[in-house]
Amino acid sequence: MALKKLKLAIFISGRGSNMLSILEACKDDAYPAEIVLVLTNRPDAKGIDIAKEHGIPTEIIDHKAFSSREDFEDEISERLENYDIDLIILAGFMRILTASFVEQWPDQIINIHPSLLPDYKGLDTHARAIADGKTEAGCTVHFVIPDLDSGPNILQRRVPILDGDTPETLAERVLEQEHKIYPEAIKIIAGV
Ligand code: GAR
Repeated sequence: MALKKLKLAIFISGRGSNMLSILEACKDDAYPAEIVLVLTNRPDAKGIDIAKEHGIPTEIIDHKAFSSREDFEDEISERLENYDIDLIILAGFMRILTASFVEQWPDQIINIHPSLLPDYKGLDTHARAIADGKTEAGCTVHFVIPDLDSGPNILQRRVPILDGDTPETLAERVLEQEHKIYPEAIKIIAGV
């Protein structure tokens, strides 16, 4: 019997390297998910070009064209109706979603965050960890709930913070692990 695949909508705002890691995983016939949509709030997001090159449907909804977060999200919801989606994957999507939107997708939105949650919610995670003299950093895939960066963890990976690290060198080390745990986390949700 053919594998029933989870249908993913990936939301991005920029480079899209996590999206690409999931896209690569999906090329394996045995991987339990497929990308049916890549959506961005940034018309200039690099990741959108990558998605298009791979023949994946894309939606661009510029948040600046809307006077409120609710109107922006209503437009997202309307566009999502055109696709059959099981799971929303936030992959560097830099807009905070309202409780009302999150509650429409219970346990169906996941996010990757570049810290060992619950440490360093929000922005500038690597700079803050270095400034605090931490010896470890990492990344977390978690379910999204209305409170920012606070839902239950699905997977976490640690990396060392080395002498002389800058936010950039640390980000690079963490990103390498992000690319591994995001596809793995989706497999866990798929139950394989
Ligand atoms: C990733 O490091 C991701 O963890 C982070 O943005 C980057 C996106 O990179 N997300 C957040 O900070 C969310 N609060 P990508 O576009 O290359 O995947």
